[in-house]
Amino acid sequence: MKELTPEQIQHNWDNLLQLIEVNFSGERLDGLFKMYEYFGERMAVAPASGKEHFHNCHAGGYVEHVIHVTTSALQIKELWEKNGATIDFTEEELVFCALHHDLGKIGDLAEDYYVPNDSEWHRKNQGLVYKHNGNLQYMTVTDRALFLLQHFGISMSENEYIGLKLTDGLYEESNKSYYIGYSPDRALKTNIAYILHQADMMATHIEFDQWKRGDHLKKVVKQQENEKKNEQSAAANKAFKELFGE
Ligand SMILES: [Fe+2]
Repeated sequence: MKELTPEQIQHNWDNLLQLIEVNFSGERLDGLFKMYEYFGERMAVAPASGKEHFHNCHAGGYVEHVIHVTTSALQIKELWEKNGATIDFTEEELVFCALHHDLGKIGDLAEDYYVPNDSEWHRKNQGLVYKHNGNLQYMTVTDRALFLLQHFGISMSENEYIGLKLTDGLYEESNKSYYIGYSPDRALKTNIAYILHQADMMATHIEFDQWKRGDHLKKVVKQQENEKKNEQSAAANKAFKELFGE
């Protein structure tokens, strides 16, 4: 099971707020801050998926994932640009979509989307760490993202609407008519969705690899070992001082 320390969760949350501050301004920044303040702790500890073998199925997984998708999207945009692609959208638009494509995974205004699985058997044997909260009105994750953004009065451009809506690529069946148009008129008129989908897929697979290798677990164990060592040496110092004075 992948795990983040409370310090890592706090660090990621601070990074997320900084990304918001750096990339947005005016009314939109106000709306975003209002939304991030509203969800606060719920968002900071939300997982990015409910199944261990999916990706970032751990406390803080959501924030880590959207930061990962944002940094990947910026790198992939550079790669497309260097290779001759037309970049017909702004960096602000790209970051907006990357940060909010999975917003629906936070849940609705009152309750979380993922809740801890109360079945120990399913947790242990099938890696179903979280389950979907049955109290929520059914919506796709993307529909809920759009709903929440409009609730907080956060407007978006057409590029952002298309990019955010299509980040899941053809893994989401309802995206088919956007990606497969069968005529030049119906083809996507911007590359933003392709780049976001690539970024989301790359981030997701890398997160899976990290889980498989146990990278985070090693870091958490190492940090715990260091903390233990520090505590032991502080206790030894104290005992030494008590015995022999300064
Ligand atoms: Fe995602």
